[in-house]
Amino acid sequence: MKTKLLYAKDITATLQINEAADILKNGGLVAVPTETVYGLAASALNEKAVANIFKAKGRPNDNPLIVHIADFSELDNIVAEVSDLAKECMDAFWPGPFTAVLPKKDIIPNAVSGGLNTVAVRMPANAVTAEIIKKSGLPLAAPSANTSGAPSPSTPYHVIEDLSGKIDAIVVSGDCEVGVESTVVSFAVNPPRLLRPGGITVEQLKELIPDLVIDPAVTAEPEKGVKVASPGMKYKHYSPKANTVMVAGSEQAFADFCNKNQDIDLALCFDEDIPLLKIPYISLGKKADHSKQAELLFSALRDIDKRKSKGAVIHAPTKEGMGLAVYNRLIRAVGFKVIEL
Ligand code: TXA
Ligand code: MG
Repeated sequence: MKTKLLYAKDITATLQINEAADILKNGGLVAVPTETVYGLAASALNEKAVANIFKAKGRPNDNPLIVHIADFSELDNIVAEVSDLAKECMDAFWPGPFTAVLPKKDIIPNAVSGGLNTVAVRMPANAVTAEIIKKSGLPLAAPSANTSGAPSPSTPYHVIEDLSGKIDAIVVSGDCEVGVESTVVSFAVNPPRLLRPGGITVEQLKELIPDLVIDPAVTAEPEKGVKVASPGMKYKHYSPKANTVMVAGSEQAFADFCNKNQDIDLALCFDEDIPLLKIPYISLGKKADHSKQAELLFSALRDIDKRKSKGAVIHAPTKEGMGLAVYNRLIRAVGFKVIEL
């Protein structure tokens, strides 16, 4: 299949926006920009189109998709009930990097929900994609537009690398500002539960949901045989092909570990580590700048392989603010191999 590139810098690109909407109405697959990562969109109401998403990504069928809307009025068509607390969070965080898991209506096919009786819903902030959703008149199912298991796509080039030839079109717009995927909160349980940290921080959520439960899988490997609340959390994910390990400790301890270990040829580190390192490195910026780390994260993980590293060491971020989202992606990228120094 030849993948068409539709260049749409902003909403003045009406021809490209209309073409993307038409492809979606006809059951095709289109990668679209969002403020978090690029998404691979198809009509959430078209089972065949949804099945093609799983095929193009090589995604396990039991891992459900997020449904994207552009208007609050769409919500009633797809979810059975919205609690007051869920509504408050939507009002506060939409459009934006926040996803609410709610009881689903029958119109949402099981293929979208992975057989669960809930559906994840998000209203993305990207203006081009909001326009595409409105023009298509459809709720759009869209996972991240990467090959399943690979780092998520925070630039259009990442999408081209992974999905060229496998989907109908890619809407090429700018790089994603947030850089990691949305925060996923389940309101299908009481109290609500954080399933995936992301662009909206725990600190922000707790202002509205003081008794928010943090799912243990956010910061640790789910125990074997225990059913996870969010199927996506049980898979190794975001992984470079190189051997990678994460190390938590001071700048000096991290540098000593990198410099003395024969099998390590690359460090993924912070600016503060650079003066101490004697091996090549990729920096995620300043240790305290968690937003910057999120923005650079997926490009950096892809660069580990582009640099043909055989063994890379990642310096663990702290878990405050957006740091929790960065930590959550990194423990999956290293297959939960974390060394505390
Ligand atoms: O920022 C984002 O959320 C991006 C952009 C494209 O919107 N999308 C995204 O989708 O990250 P995806 O498919 O890569 O991740 C969706 C996550 C998975 O971990 C999945 O298991 C979880 O959300 N999820 C989806 N529906 C769910 C449900 N009904 N219950 C629990 N978890 C669900
Ligand atoms: Mg994904």
